[in-house]
Amino acid sequence: SGTGSEVTMVAVVSDTEKNVKMAFASNYLMPHAAILDPRMTQTLPPHLTAMTAMDAMTHAVEAYTCMAANPISDAYATAAIKKVSNSLFSVLDNTTDAHGRLELAQASTMAGIAFSNSMVGLVHSLGHALGAVAHLPHGLCMNLFLPYVLEYNKEVNGDKIAELLLPLAGPDIYAQTPAHLRADKAISTILTMRDRLYSLTKLPRTLSETGKVTEAQLDEVAEKALNDGSIIYNPKEASLEDLKSILKKAW
Ligand SMILES: [Fe+2]
Repeated sequence: SGTGSEVTMVAVVSDTEKNVKMAFASNYLMPHAAILDPRMTQTLPPHLTAMTAMDAMTHAVEAYTCMAANPISDAYATAAIKKVSNSLFSVLDNTTDAHGRLELAQASTMAGIAFSNSMVGLVHSLGHALGAVAHLPHGLCMNLFLPYVLEYNKEVNGDKIAELLLPLAGPDIYAQTPAHLRADKAISTILTMRDRLYSLTKLPRTLSETGKVTEAQLDEVAEKALNDGSIIYNPKEASLEDLKSILKKAW
């Protein structure tokens, strides 16, 4: 429950010789129907459950906050974020929770529908680049970059990030948080979620915590991210230097 591939118009092909991940989009990749059966993920280990859920979460957050967002993608994205927020920790607590597993599968599918009707952004640009250079799983890469990219984008689309506090944290916290603090609270909710995932599943939160990336590789990651297709939909323009400074924060 993560990629949403069962419903998206996107495929990623890894070129292992040139160390690049290339994304392709085509209507011919869309299925006529997708069947979600929670029995398929009942034995998925906790750290894979966590990283795939964070891929779905990132699809929804980026679909909602990127430049191609629209009312249809917004509706699917917010519903998907709510499902991940409500069910991920109960599934990690009880891995055979069939209802929670179905919620995560639905979240993944709905997030896939969201970004197929919208797009993704800089988290995916950096994630594709890091995955290609350091051979880390995609969902882990999403978990590493999501809060830092939101932090970077905030000055341009803080109003949209603020709206995500409702599906992320629920109506009580949304109502208790003054409007001008909601974007920061949404980002800190994601940071707290990552801390909980780290303590439950050891899912790394930073590049250094992965133990598989060297600081010498970061320039290559930044250069590859700059050439990734999803960067053009990011709400805030990013130069090579901007990407390097996000990578430094994520270190
Ligand atoms: Fe993804």
